Amino acid sequence: MTETLDISITKNQNSRLTTTDFDNLTFGHTFSDHMFVADYADGEWKNFQIVPYGDISLSPAISSLHYGQSFFEGIKAYKHVDGNVSVFRPNKNAERFNKSAERLCMPTLPEDIFIQSILALVDVDSDWVPTKPGHSLYIRPFMFATDPYLGVSPSKTYKYMVLTGPVGPYFTKPLKVKIETEFSRATEGGFGYAKAAGNYGGAMLPGKMAVEQGYDQLIWTDSKEHAYMEELGAANVMFLLDGKLITPSTDKGTILKGVTRDTVLTLARDWGYPVEERRVSVAEVLEAAKNGTLEDAFGAGTAATIAPIGQIEHEGQLYTLSDPAEREFSQKVLKTLNEIRYGVTADPYGWNYMV
Ligand code: PLP
Ligand code: COI
Repeated sequence: MTETLDISITKNQNSRLTTTDFDNLTFGHTFSDHMFVADYADGEWKNFQIVPYGDISLSPAISSLHYGQSFFEGIKAYKHVDGNVSVFRPNKNAERFNKSAERLCMPTLPEDIFIQSILALVDVDSDWVPTKPGHSLYIRPFMFATDPYLGVSPSKTYKYMVLTGPVGPYFTKPLKVKIETEFSRATEGGFGYAKAAGNYGGAMLPGKMAVEQGYDQLIWTDSKEHAYMEELGAANVMFLLDGKLITPSTDKGTILKGVTRDTVLTLARDWGYPVEERRVSVAEVLEAAKNGTLEDAFGAGTAATIAPIGQIEHEGQLYTLSDPAEREFSQKVLKTLNEIRYGVTADPYGWNYMV
């Protein structure tokens, strides 16, 4: 860390903490009392502020609205059993934040500003971090272009903001997923690896169609052949096939390089599982589902955590996988991750950033 960031803090005089129902949280609907805001202008980041959460005023001509210079991150803070609060691996999100920024022709943000903004904001709203099992404080850093200019060129001014809000599990039951063979989320040479707002906007129609057909999520496939697995709509996808942990590689730039994905791969390697990051064909996974060698299948993501896949559909055929409660690998990962995140056991990896 470099020097301490000079942040001006204006406290919310009308806290919503005591009127918030922590027993009935729907993801993304509840916001904590404060937010972080900074401005980029004249080639530098400035005006670091924590202010009451609320509406902001912007020109209707800002280029983020018209041309999509906008991206985000997702991180979680956890309340430890001893009452302390930690943020999970924000350094990895800082890294990805700047990869997204570069791809969208936006300014990068020094890692220490990113991390300090988050730790300071979570500190101010630490009473908002839920204590219930499986619950956490979701942290949403984002950046968007603010030049009021309709020419198609990179903006010269930007805002970086962070919102937080208490959340429970994103998925509450094993997922019924559809392997997408018509639409594509990303292409080689595109920006699938960036957490760009536009990636999510473009995914909404296929996602909505899948929900209308009774599925919870899509598994995106490669855009050329629709023959290789890529990722879920809101998480990376992983399979335990014949004792090996297999996940699509990120080297073609079409898949988000998930922090949870990296975390699971690290644990698996340390536990001695063979790990393969490579092209994963739809055919091999479905064949394994048929012949009983598909031991586990799950989504891995910050919001999703470890989300077991219960059923997979492909071109009209539905495959029902093993009972998620009986799966050794994903259950062990979830248990280990929870113990580290909630401070039940030691954190040998240095993943918890204490607030
Ligand atoms: N893939 C997509 C499309 C996502 O939205 C997410 C969620 O952030 C992930 C993968 C998982 O990434 P992470 O584990 O960093 O949250
Ligand atoms: C996350 O896991 O943080 C995500 O961004 C997923 C989704 C809510 C967009």
